[in-house]
Amino acid sequence: MTAAPAIPKGLEGVVAAETEMSFIDGQKGILEYVGIPIGELSANSNFEEVVFLLWNKRLPTKNELESFTRELRNNYDIPGALLKRIFELPKDAQPMHVLRTMISLLALYDPNPNANDVASAREKALRILASAPVIVANFDRHRRGEAPIHPDDSLGFAANFLYMLNGERPTPTMERAFDVCMILHADHGLNNSTFTARVIISTLSDVYSALTGAVGSLRGPLHGGANEGVMEMLGKIPSLDAVESFVMDKLAKKDRIMGFGHRVYKTTDPRATDLQKLAKQLAADTGNTPLYEKSTKIEEIMEREVGAKGIHPNVDFYSATTYHCIGLKLDLFTPMFALSRISGWSGHMLEQLADNRLYRPTVRYVGPHNQPYTPIDQR
Ligand code: ACO
Repeated sequence: MTAAPAIPKGLEGVVAAETEMSFIDGQKGILEYVGIPIGELSANSNFEEVVFLLWNKRLPTKNELESFTRELRNNYDIPGALLKRIFELPKDAQPMHVLRTMISLLALYDPNPNANDVASAREKALRILASAPVIVANFDRHRRGEAPIHPDDSLGFAANFLYMLNGERPTPTMERAFDVCMILHADHGLNNSTFTARVIISTLSDVYSALTGAVGSLRGPLHGGANEGVMEMLGKIPSLDAVESFVMDKLAKKDRIMGFGHRVYKTTDPRATDLQKLAKQLAADTGNTPLYEKSTKIEEIMEREVGAKGIHPNVDFYSATTYHCIGLKLDLFTPMFALSRISGWSGHMLEQLADNRLYRPTVRYVGPHNQPYTPIDQR
């Protein structure tokens, strides 16, 4: 009897869809959105333009960008009833649970929540993308005892979020830093949360369900939740001198160092390269250089110890320091990833809907056969 073929655990290496959005070469450390290197976009573009690019597979003209930006801003606000609900939530709720729940709840305020022809799905995706920052910022305000705030539609996506969070407009440096973070997190192939969104929409379910599921996937510590793990780790290391023993102890115990390793990248994640530059600059501007130095020391030790195994910093490693310097609380780090990635999830949903086939893989049964049914009082 021939042995059954091995199943690639975690579907590693399995091509499960086609996309025109992002290209990744994990060996060379290349990430492109619609063929444009990520470094070009983070240096020259803004988040709104990147979303247009991902959804339309081309850069917008000036007029197109203006009109897309306007459309996004026109959708910033959330229904009053939903805002009220946010202020009724338990203050100790976790922001990722809040975001997931509120995206699901948004469906209840949509008169036609199930419409998933490509045009309707795009409209809903845009509305969710525009309103997610309002949800996260207002929940944070609620738990701090601050009053609700409405978005400022004279501000771009990044500036508006920081404005709602802090009640004042961000400095141009902070706005730009946050905008770059949004660009870098927008899309990344068929990662777990994107796959989740595609799988859900492939049943011809609805946009709200698909994005709710994707948020649930992202929060796992092996996925987007790792950026919070990085910050927790940095907080546990008392000084630069303590980094060496901390990392070596963890590696000896076979513990994972959060923010390192990637299923696809076997060299440095190109997003980490950009984020490192950003983290260095922001740390210097905000008096957080010791934190940045701890990070580079961890990277140095990891390179020496496990670099040869292809374990290098991923997107979450330096985003942790960056978000900390922007002034974000630890449990807002993963929601920041989600605010941006809604754009990628949505683009993939639109691709899936345009050429849909239900995802339905098979499973290999490895249990027994022809077992007797034993009555309950004889077991
Ligand atoms: N720290 C220490 N060792 C590691 C790490 C790490 N962060 N990541 C992988 N390794 C080691 C494993 O122990 C294993 O070693 P072994 O072969 O000696 O047993 C080897 O590298 C391969 O690890 P796998 O788990 O098989 O690699 P996989 O591709 O499944 O894992 C993952 C990728 C889950 C991201 C992993 O690297 C990890 O857990 N990293 C930490 C969490 C993290 O940062 N996640 C964010 C990823 S980026 C994103 O989702 C946005």
